[in-house]
Amino acid sequence: MSNSLIEQEVSKRRTFAIISHPDAGKTTITEKVLLFGNALQKAGTVKGKKSGQHAKSDWMEMEKERGISVTTSVMQFPYRDSLVNLLDTPGHEDFSEDTYRTLTAVDSCLMVIDSAKGVEARTVKLMEVTRLRDTPIITFMNKIDRDIRDPIDLMDEVEDVLKIACAPITWPIGMGKELKGVYHILRDEVIMYNVGQGHMIQDSRVIKGINNPELDEALGDYAQELRDDMELVEGAANKFDYDLFMAGELTPVYFGTALGNFGVDHVLDGLCDWAPTPQSRVSDLRTVEPHDETFSGFVFKIQANMDPKHRDRIAFMRVCSGKYSKGMKMKHVRLNKDVSISDAVTFMAGDRTQTEEAYPGDIIGLHNHGTIQIGDTFTQGELLKFTGIPNFAPEMFRRIRLKDPLKQKQLQKGLIQLSEEGAVQVFRPQRSNDLIVGAVGVLQFDVVVHRLRTEYKVDAIYEGISVATARWVECADPRKLEEFKKKAWDNIALDGGDNLTYIAPTMVNLRLAQERYPDVVFRETREH
Ligand code: G4P
Repeated sequence: MSNSLIEQEVSKRRTFAIISHPDAGKTTITEKVLLFGNALQKAGTVKGKKSGQHAKSDWMEMEKERGISVTTSVMQFPYRDSLVNLLDTPGHEDFSEDTYRTLTAVDSCLMVIDSAKGVEARTVKLMEVTRLRDTPIITFMNKIDRDIRDPIDLMDEVEDVLKIACAPITWPIGMGKELKGVYHILRDEVIMYNVGQGHMIQDSRVIKGINNPELDEALGDYAQELRDDMELVEGAANKFDYDLFMAGELTPVYFGTALGNFGVDHVLDGLCDWAPTPQSRVSDLRTVEPHDETFSGFVFKIQANMDPKHRDRIAFMRVCSGKYSKGMKMKHVRLNKDVSISDAVTFMAGDRTQTEEAYPGDIIGLHNHGTIQIGDTFTQGELLKFTGIPNFAPEMFRRIRLKDPLKQKQLQKGLIQLSEEGAVQVFRPQRSNDLIVGAVGVLQFDVVVHRLRTEYKVDAIYEGISVATARWVECADPRKLEEFKKKAWDNIALDGGDNLTYIAPTMVNLRLAQERYPDVVFRETREH
């Protein structure tokens, strides 16, 4: 395998996720982006909210009923000379853990903002997550076919609230029913908007030069307004700066309407021109460069029963270095075991195909028969482990109980599998036969009961339980750990991966335990 081939493939790739508040237009943009990638003949089948074409599983049925997206799907498509990998992030607040881990697998993010509403709560949270890795951000101000807020105000708000400088790349001309088009500041050209071309690639008139008299003829009074706006922007707004962008400190801003399929191509152009190619990754041994000759990757997501026909679990792996080829041998580092992988899959808008080869930045799906966990590293022999893919201590707890007590085994199996997937966390107190489910958001509880019923055929119900929090515990001194386990027995539990945890009925209890056992470390997150 020559290094230069890997370098070539790496330079083509852009792996990104969309971050936005629900309803800002993430699904619509995904559809249009795929339209450009010719991945879909006609945009409109991603979520299938209305079309009902994508009845993948009952779980996804539920997702549709609620109009939320709880899954992370991956789509690859070509655009210009690039190969773009788009990772869908769960939109609902309750699934922040999954979202967090998905954002560890991308190199840049597209932030979508509803231009009538501005910065919304969920966007603020997601931006906090991207900050942890200083991920470069591109911004799309969506819905300019509606009455939107003043563009300068919108950018001010982004700068104030999200603490990232804005550099406008395009600028709206008119809005709502009076939307005329956008001015591309860097290219010095006006791209005219055609209403009603949302389902196709816009065939737009382009007028070169802001002082071109053609503009006055085409735009009427808006031509002068645009020139005035640009004078203002020239004086007041930031200019695009590649280094600041790469440092996550400045975002290029585009205006458009995803529904009208207008402006989406400008963002894609920006993504191909500026967004980082697959970046290096930190491991416990060394920094892994994408063009390293040997293969490596990590699992950031596991999803069960994506397709009722297959009834399997898929582990989503981000390729970090080297090349995957069908049939290759990989080292499953945690188990220190060699495995032959011949049936990895790639994803296209919900469909999957066998992967022949994959390069850094690509996401491949491995069939998981219970041996793969979130955070697992695979290599071509080296015993290194990628870091930075955590579990978070849940904030809500319930005891889960069967309606039919004979199915205890299925319940355990289902819960353990769902916890491996990261859908929920499960704790087994040592002093009783209870099963405690812990979640970061309340909706997770509903999803789990629903999935237990449809996928594992067990009817379970919840009961309240007085647990305030859980901590993963560690102690360097085995003797002290044993003593702690004995004394704190009533509060000791094992999680889904058999890791030792301390279950605290109150925060005060936790604090007292921490004071009492100073040699024991109580962790709020657990690295997989
Ligand atoms: P999400 O995935 O971020 O939650 O948002 P989604 O794309 O589902 O969009 C939310 C709503 O906003 C949808 O309307 C969608 O049609 C609309 N929308 C998206 N982009 C634009 C845009 O550029 N302009 C306008 N005017 N609307 C836009 P809905 O009525 O909730 O759903 P639907 O019944 O139309 O599917």
